Amino acid sequence: MSQTIASAPGKLMLLGEHAVVYGHACLVTAVNLRMRVALAPRSDDTVRIQSATLSEPFAAPVAGLRGPVQEVPEAVRFVVGALQQFWDETGTRTGFDIETASQFTHAYGLGSSAAVTVATLQALAGATDHALAPADIFRLGYAAVLDVQSGIGSGFDVAAVTYGGTLYYAGRGAEIVPLTGEPLPLVVGYSGSKAQTTALVRQVAKLRQENPEAMDASMQHVHDLMKEAEEAILCKDYARLGKMLDVNQAWLDALSVSTPALDTLIHTARQAGAYGAKLSGAGGGDCMIALVNAQTRPQVELAITQAGVPGAEVLSVETSAPGVRLEA
Ligand code: MEV
Repeated sequence: MSQTIASAPGKLMLLGEHAVVYGHACLVTAVNLRMRVALAPRSDDTVRIQSATLSEPFAAPVAGLRGPVQEVPEAVRFVVGALQQFWDETGTRTGFDIETASQFTHAYGLGSSAAVTVATLQALAGATDHALAPADIFRLGYAAVLDVQSGIGSGFDVAAVTYGGTLYYAGRGAEIVPLTGEPLPLVVGYSGSKAQTTALVRQVAKLRQENPEAMDASMQHVHDLMKEAEEAILCKDYARLGKMLDVNQAWLDALSVSTPALDTLIHTARQAGAYGAKLSGAGGGDCMIALVNAQTRPQVELAITQAGVPGAEVLSVETSAPGVRLEA
C-alpha cells in the first residue's frame, strides 16, 4: 500500500516558559529541523512502528493499544497517543505501518515529542478520508501529549509545530495568534546537557504552592511582558526585545531553573554584543537563545563555542518555519 508522509517542525520557546503552564502567555517559534512520519494503512489490525530510536520495530494489535498509553514502550508513546486520539475521533480501528525519522535529536529540547505527535495525526488524516483542520490537529495532539505526560504541559509546543511561524500562545490554547513568518535574528546555543522538563515543572509548582501570592503576581508580570514582546516582534525592534529576554531570564533565575552552563553561555553572549539572552524551555539544560544582528552574530557564535562549557555547541536553525504539512 502507498505511503503518506507528513512532517512537522521543531520549536523553540522565546519567552514565557513556566508561566505559560498556568495559562499565562508565551511566545514560541517553529524551527526548520523537521520530524517526518511515513504511514500506510494495513489490511489487518496490526500497528507496526519503526524509528531510529528502536532497536527493532514495535508491533501490537489495535486492541492491545487501547489501554493507558504509559503501558507501551517510551519510544512509541507519542505515536500511540496520537493513534488513540485518531481512533476515538473517527470511530475507526485500522492498523498502520508507521515509520518516523527526525532531523534533530530529542536531546536538544526542540520539541521532538510534539512534532512526532502532530506529524502522525497529519499523516493519519492524509492516509484516510478523515480530514483534520489545524485546530483539530492541535486539539487531538495536545490531548495525546497530556495523556503521555500525565497531565503536564501547556500545549505551546503542540501549537508551534501545528501552525508554524512565530506565535503568541495563551490560555492553554485559548489564544493562538500568528505574529510573523519571517525568521528572527537568533543564535541558539545547546548547553551540553538534556533538561528534565516534567521535574522542573513540578519544582516550579512546589514553589508556587509555597508562595502562591508572590508567584502569581510575578507570573502576571511575565504575562504583561509578553504583550510588550509581541509588539517588539511586530515592529522588528530587536534591541527592545533583547532587553525583554534579559528581564525574563532574571525571573527564571529566581525560580532556580537555570544552570551554571546556561548562565555562562547567556553571560558570554551578552558580553559578545547580543541584544539580550536567556534560557529557552524548562531550564535545567537544553538550549539558550541570544538576539543578535548581522554584525554581532559571528562574535556571539564564537563566544558560545569558546565559553568552556563541555558539550556546548551553536545549533544551526532558522526560526518561523512552516507548520505541519503533507509531503509529496
Ligand atoms: C518547557 O519547554 C516549557 C514549560 O513552560 C513547560 C510547558 O509549557 O509545557 C516549562
